[in-house]
Amino acid sequence: MVVMRKAVGLASAIVIMVMGMTDLSAQGLVDPKAEDKITSYISRMTLEEKIGQLNQYSSTFDVTGPPPQSGGNKDRYEQIKNGLVGSMLNVTGTEATRKMQELAVKNSRLGIPLIFGLDVVHGYRTMFPTPLGESASWDLEALQLSARVAATEAAAAGVHWTFAPMVDICRDARWGRIMEGAGEDPYLGSRIAEARVRGFQGTNLSAPDTIAACVKHYAGYGFSESGRDYNTVDLSEHTLRNVVLPPFRAAVDAGAATVMNSFNEIGGVPATASIHLQREILKSEWAFRGFVVSDWGSVGELITHGVAADASEAALLAIKAGSDMDMETSAYVGHLAALVKAGKVDEKLVDDAVRRILRVKFALGLFDDPYRYCNAGRENQLLLSQPHLDAARDVARKSIVLLKNENNLLPLQKKGTIAVIGPLAADKDTPLGNWRAQAIANSAVSILEGIQAAAGSDAKVVHAEGAKLAVGTRNFFTKPRYNTDDRSGFANAVAAARSADVVVVAIGEDAYQSGEGRSQTDIGLKGLQEELLREVFAANKNVVVVLMTGRPVVINWIAENIPAVLETWHPGSQAGHAIADVLFGAYNPSGKLPVSFPRHVGQLPLYYSHKNTGRPNQPDNPLSTSYTDVPNTPLYPFGYGLSYTKFEYSELQLSGKEFGKNGQLDVKVTVKNVGDRPGTEIIQLYTRDLVGSVTRPVKELKGFRKVNLAAGQAEEITFTIKAPDLAFYTGSGKWEAEAGKFKIFVGGNSRDTKEAEFTLLEKSH
Ligand code: BGC
Repeated sequence: MVVMRKAVGLASAIVIMVMGMTDLSAQGLVDPKAEDKITSYISRMTLEEKIGQLNQYSSTFDVTGPPPQSGGNKDRYEQIKNGLVGSMLNVTGTEATRKMQELAVKNSRLGIPLIFGLDVVHGYRTMFPTPLGESASWDLEALQLSARVAATEAAAAGVHWTFAPMVDICRDARWGRIMEGAGEDPYLGSRIAEARVRGFQGTNLSAPDTIAACVKHYAGYGFSESGRDYNTVDLSEHTLRNVVLPPFRAAVDAGAATVMNSFNEIGGVPATASIHLQREILKSEWAFRGFVVSDWGSVGELITHGVAADASEAALLAIKAGSDMDMETSAYVGHLAALVKAGKVDEKLVDDAVRRILRVKFALGLFDDPYRYCNAGRENQLLLSQPHLDAARDVARKSIVLLKNENNLLPLQKKGTIAVIGPLAADKDTPLGNWRAQAIANSAVSILEGIQAAAGSDAKVVHAEGAKLAVGTRNFFTKPRYNTDDRSGFANAVAAARSADVVVVAIGEDAYQSGEGRSQTDIGLKGLQEELLREVFAANKNVVVVLMTGRPVVINWIAENIPAVLETWHPGSQAGHAIADVLFGAYNPSGKLPVSFPRHVGQLPLYYSHKNTGRPNQPDNPLSTSYTDVPNTPLYPFGYGLSYTKFEYSELQLSGKEFGKNGQLDVKVTVKNVGDRPGTEIIQLYTRDLVGSVTRPVKELKGFRKVNLAAGQAEEITFTIKAPDLAFYTGSGKWEAEAGKFKIFVGGNSRDTKEAEFTLLEKSH
């Protein structure tokens, strides 16, 4: 998809954006000299040393002190010294990584360096918005920059490899890990996957400020039954190829050095044991040259899935399927050698896995200098540096979505009394979100601090917490407990609201409420939050709700009653400043939802690109796909988000009515800022393939463009569609576009669009 833009009335100003370039060579994974050296290493390695490269352990963080005299770690350090470990995860900081690296390089026979991995998901120390939040920016440069900063900090702290981007398409907000991905759509997800890979890896993996990416979780993890984490997945090849795999393919084509498989089964085969996914599709069809790491313990979990009787059988299944590195189960290091010696595993499979792992180590430059990422000076200088904090603020404000703004309550004036109320108002930890790598607890700028800093001396800011959201211990390993009975702060909150001209109520989800192992049957606001809000609203109608959530939430009462609502996600280190920028209008909101917001949890899975079915939804006809109690439509559709100004779309102008497999169609639309302030609009293009060899979605995103328009300014945007843009996995199992009639839609969200029709004359791949 190519997009051009032209300012109306101006001569040229044309920008061309080409999506999805393949650039494996830039990542250093096709270096013939490295291949020769790898061949030489493999020829000198014992079987045990080869298997050692396939073995990854997690650190328990005591590497800077003496290892314990007995137990697991001591043994693991001995294994590193003996060349029986290829990688460690969760070792961070230049001091710790250097010491750990020395164990391998100075002691093992061949001195092969370790590769250090970590979940650097939305920042290392400087936190950006959680990934679903960032995706609401639809801003590929911003997303790339976020990954770039994360890589720069992580690399400076000795980390070589991030377990990101997570590209699992998810349409069920009950699944807590929806916060880690880019939302519900394969096209948006693919573009974001590429941007993140490029951000982490740069153009040279061996540079000291780049790290290897790991696209995960391959595959289907976001489609777990009933949204319960780790649960069974049963996906047709049709949905797998058309919906789940495109972002993985895009990331691999953008040069992702590694892939992580997933915990789930698909149709009876756990992904870790799936030959189809790993060998047939990834390594053969896509010619992927990097390596596959298992998810945490997923080789061992083949036993609990019930497809392997013991760890030896688990190792056998996983290596045959193409899982190259075993994260944390010791199944490979414990059993592969015996399996090879017994003739059950061909040593060539082990050699291939070693080659892939060494290839990435070479590309990272670890054989030239195993300590190249260990530089304490850089670590001190870069972590939380001002440019990184500035970038985090900018990406956070670009990610905020304005859901409602009745009577232009927003932006706020910097005068009078502003009450800042709610459990998340002064919270300096929740904005950091889950999967926060090495963020310092309680280090975010709170909403209250942001508003105080921005409001200046003409406005008075008062604060009341009102009620706590979560009580007790909160961390990655503990399920959150909610405050359901302590209303002792309500009276203060109501008094503060009464005294104010306008009230900002900060509510949503606790930092650890979404993320791994955080599935919920109810995705409404937890605890006493809505009750508090209702009391505050009874005292003062000028309420702005600032939602801070990892996932979409059900907010019908708020949507109906509260005049202004912002979805800010978990916005990261600079949360309060970014939110204040939007509240006071220093930044005019431009975010668009990357996922539908349901009216009721019972609608899930919910997504805009559903099929038409034989009996499409008719709200008053029970014998259609409708519910009898709640409309089918989302509360807020995919792609939705308001601005403080308004944009008007012209009718669409097509360059023709039909085109062939080598032709193209230009779709022109003029978008005008009809309000009184500058603003940014994300213009979205969707198509519908009216008759296919298999059923096709009612709308599919095919392109988008972000434009800045001054008040009164109009711009003509041209989207160019070519036949390959219309390709899909057809009824005959091919990736191709089928001839026939299409609809085309352009608008500011997936619901409100202008439309036209065209015909593709011939099929094409
Ligand atoms: C998660 C992965 C993560 C890994 C290592 C697993 O529990 O599913 O996403 O990369 O742990 O921390």
